[in-house]
Amino acid sequence: MIYQRLDKSHAPLIAKLFSTDLPDGWSQNLIEDAFIAGRFYALGAFSENELVGVITFDKSFETADLEDIVVKKQFRNKGVATNLLERAETDLKSQKTEKVFLEVRESNFTAISFYSKNGFKKISVRKNYYADGENALVMLKELAL
Ligand SMILES: CC(C)(COP(=O)(O)OP(=O)(O)OC[C@H]1O[C@@H](n2cnc3c(N)ncnc32)[C@H](O)[C@@H]1OP(=O)(O)O)[C@@H](O)C(=O)NCCC(=O)NCCS
Repeated sequence: MIYQRLDKSHAPLIAKLFSTDLPDGWSQNLIEDAFIAGRFYALGAFSENELVGVITFDKSFETADLEDIVVKKQFRNKGVATNLLERAETDLKSQKTEKVFLEVRESNFTAISFYSKNGFKKISVRKNYYADGENALVMLKELAL
């Protein structure tokens, strides 16, 4: 597996992976706009030149929002997401990020278990956060600088 920073030229590949493996994932236009805005951080996992995992953040001063993390179905449970998160955290810390926030669907037990195992703590609930009325858990991880 090769881990690599992603840029605007990867937006079509990211959108393609989101469309097959990530409910609520951003569209290609949104991803391109985010790269242009300059606060976006994205890291990809490649297997034989295919993008099979992505993690994205929106950075703002000392905090970052983890927007999306996804691994293609056939590549799950092999530590790819853990590697993406650990590598991204190292980069973000070097850019002085101190806190990472995220929202996750209350029913997404796999993701909640993944985030908890990786040091995120539930801090609140946002009622009716998603378009279909589902609540979001808000989770936070403090990065030790
Ligand atoms: C969440 C997701 C990114 C995890 O990716 P992954 O590469 O399979 O994760 P890892 O192999 O690094 O998993 C590490 C830990 O995550 C948790 N985990 C992963 N898959 C799990 C599952 N099916 N059920 C419960 N826990 C799970 C476990 O704690 C696991 O540790 P363990 O192997 O010691 O049990 C992946 O399941 C995914 O792409 N889901 C769909 C997209 C999504 O919902 N993203 C989050 C919302 S933005």
